[in-house]
Amino acid sequence: MNSIDEQLQASLVQEALAIRSRAHAPYSNFQVGAALLSKTGEIFLGCNVENASYSLTICAERVAAGTAVASGQSQWVAIAIASRGAVTPCGACRQFLAEFGSDLLVLSVDAESQKVRRFQLSELLPHAFDKTALD
Ligand code: THU
Repeated sequence: MNSIDEQLQASLVQEALAIRSRAHAPYSNFQVGAALLSKTGEIFLGCNVENASYSLTICAERVAAGTAVASGQSQWVAIAIASRGAVTPCGACRQFLAEFGSDLLVLSVDAESQKVRRFQLSELLPHAFDKTALD
């Protein structure tokens, strides 16, 4: 699977909205949910997990990505991210996701209006640092 139709995009968005309720965000009160679709058609979920030692916080996107990799799925088609204001992934998450390919559809959804903004990861992180630099 290399592209996804409107119906699959809508269900990925719904999964991101639903998992957002699991966020552990007592410090920022900014809950985020992420749903990552692999090329095999599986969906991996994540939410942000904050910590009293603030810098240990992990974003929803990296939880979803780590879960996918641990499940043996590191080829992805799209990620939906649900938050207040439909944010795009932070810089660290852009780099983390780009490790597995910049050809990734990013769907940012506003948790209230459910309006979706669409991007390609390559547009959010042009000229990503990648393994070719280490050759
Ligand atoms: N956060 C995410 O989980 N994903 C993003 O794309 C942006 C920020 C989290 C980290 C922290 O728990 C809270 O949102 C506020 O920065």
